[in-house]
Amino acid sequence: MIELILGAIALWFLYHQIVWYTTQPNFEGKVVLITGASSGIGEEITKQLSKYGAKKLILCSRRIPELERVKRECIEAGTKSEITVM
Ligand SMILES: NC(=O)c1ccc[n+]([C@@H]2O[C@H](COP(=O)([O-])OP(=O)(O)OC[C@H]3O[C@@H](n4cnc5c(N)ncnc54)[C@H](OP(=O)(O)O)[C@@H]3O)[C@@H](O)[C@H]2O)c1
Repeated sequence: MIELILGAIALWFLYHQIVWYTTQPNFEGKVVLITGASSGIGEEITKQLSKYGAKKLILCSRRIPELERVKRECIEAGTKSEITVM
């Protein structure tokens, strides 16, 4: 009986590992241009893409100091993405 319970737990764990790995967003090698990156949705998308390994992010909007802030925050969070502000 205990073998059956342990087997069921192992299968449940394996299933969740497979689901987790196959549903992770993967932006490795991608170059992404984000308009409106200085606040709101654009800022959050920038931060998420910088975490998920995009190769290069190009941030656009009118408020350049705000774009520089978003870039700085991504770098402080440890991003490996190259970030260009324009
Ligand atoms: N937040 C929500 O939950 C939500 C839900 C549904 C729909 N929406 C819609 O999604 C859009 C973005 O929402 P948000 O909350 O992210 O708004 P937000 O924080 O005001 O962001 C707007 C972005 O667009 C840029 N922008 C505004 N006018 C511009 C212009 N003339 N030229 C170039 N860039 C311009 C702004 O940058 P600069 O000012 O630096 O140029 C800023 O980066 C809006 O249309 C909103 O109605 C939002």
